[in-house]
Formats: sequence, structure tokens, C-alpha cells
Amino acid sequence: MKHWWKNFFKPITSEVMFKPREGKQTHLEVNEVLKQIGNNKKNLEILDMCCGEGRHSIFFAKMGHKVFGLDFSNHFLKMARSRAKKARLPIKFIKGDMKLASNYFLKSQFDVVVSLYNSFGYFDKRSDDFKTLKEVNKVLKPGGYFVINTLNANAVKIRLEKQYSMGYEISKNLFMIDEAFLDLKKMRTNSNWTIIDARKQKTSIFRGSFQQNVYTHKEMKKMLKKAGFKVVRTWGTLQGGPFDENKSWHQTVLAQKAI
Ligand SMILES: C[S@@+](CC[C@H](N)C(=O)[O-])C[C@H]1O[C@@H](n2cnc3c(N)ncnc32)[C@H](O)[C@@H]1O
Repeated sequence: MKHWWKNFFKPITSEVMFKPREGKQTHLEVNEVLKQIGNNKKNLEILDMCCGEGRHSIFFAKMGHKVFGLDFSNHFLKMARSRAKKARLPIKFIKGDMKLASNYFLKSQFDVVVSLYNSFGYFDKRSDDFKTLKEVNKVLKPGGYFVINTLNANAVKIRLEKQYSMGYEISKNLFMIDEAFLDLKKMRTNSNWTIIDARKQKTSIFRGSFQQNVYTHKEMKKMLKKAGFKVVRTWGTLQGGPFDENKSWHQTVLAQKAI
């Protein structure tokens, strides 16, 4: 579906994606990013790109950093703003498209840009994924860091070789059916989510589809270099788990803008 990312991200999808990761897990993810870029750095200006409901932005800001969040979903931005207000944190959440990031910020504004939890590869044209990397490069200071977490094509190829289908209960009376396959020609995943919410008297059903371009680690490194970055290191899970080129579902890459 064209531009699926404009409509897919809603309160019900947030329950599935973010709720299980809130709190302790998000804290670990933020700590890992800060550890990888060097924990001694204070008062950083950080862009949380595709910030969702701001779960990482909040922790970065609590640690004293100046944080901006960029996202396209009105639902998520509303939630992010209300959370920041409640926590009395001066985070600015901006609505915008990641592939146009330099429209909303100054050139060389940020010390760090993060794209966490699989927020890359969403565009119909792969050239727009590459454009996003170039935009990140523009808004980073020379020597600034970019941390990006995305799917690892080698592992996706193995798991989604055949159509994948799985149903489970996310929390009491909230069920999900997750179906996916990989279009090998386009190297693009096709996923269908059915979320059945039976927590209220009237059961509601959400159906949504999304597609994601997948990249091998070699391709990711090549793209980052072409966009003006030096690749510093790679890990697997957002909490710092090791990266295996064939087995890790995600790749998390630390890249640095050339000085
Ligand atoms: C998987 S969620 C990750 C959210 C957040 N990073 C987290 O870990 O909680 C992907 C996010 O990307 C946002 N998004 C999708 N397409 C976008 C675009 N073109 N520009 C900006 N944000 C976008 C969605 O609204 C959603 O919040």
C-alpha cells in the first residue's frame, strides 16, 4: 500500500508496539545509546527521529539533554507532548517526514540523531530511504553521531522465506495475528496485522498492512558511507545484544558524520 506509514500508526498499534517496551526496557535502550557514543558527554542536542510517543525522548531529556522529537503521527505526537508536559520536560515534538528532516531543523544542529526501533525502510522508493540518511547527515554537526536500528535482511530472508503467521495474546483480552512474507525481488517485507481488542464489552478489530525495505548489513554500511558517514560499530538488539550477520533480526549501527 502506497504511503502506508501515513495511516498505520494509531493508538491501537501503539499498544502492540510500545506498551511492552515502556519503562525498564526503554531505559536500557537509552543507556545503551549513550554508552556507545561515550557516556561522559553532557548537554547534548539530540534528535529522536520517528520518536513515536516519545519513550526515548523522555529518558534522554531526564538525563539533562536538549531533545527534539520528529514524527508523522498526530496520535503519537499528542501522546508525546502530554507525557513531556506531565514530566515537566522542555522537549519539542515536531510533525514532519523523516526524508525532509532538514526542512524542520538547522544545518549542523544536532550532536546526536537516533532512529530507534525499526523506523527505517518505510518508503515506496529505496532512494527515499537513502535521502533520509542524507538528511540526517545535514542536520548533524561534523563529528556528530547517528544511531540507527533497522531490520537485518539476511535474518529476515531466513525467517520469512515461507509465509509467516502467528497469533498470540498480547495482554489480557488483547489478541494479535501477525502475518508476513518477504518479496524477494524487491527485498521488501509485506506484513498484515489483525488486532482484536476484547477488553471492552464491544469487541473491536483493527486490520492494517505495512511494507518495509530490508537491507543487509553490508548494504546499510555502504549507504551510510555514501551519505557521508563513517561506520563506527554495530550491535544487534537495542539493549546492546551482539550482532550476528545471519541470525540477528535487527542491526543497530553507530555512524559518525565526517569532521
Ligand atoms: C516502529 S515506530 C518507532 C517509534 C519510536 N522510535 C519508539 O521506538 O518508540 C515508527 C515510528 O515512525 C513514525 N514514522 C513513520 N513514517 C514516518 C515518516 N515518514 N516521517 C517521520 N516519522 C515517521 C511513526 O509514526 C512511528 O512513530
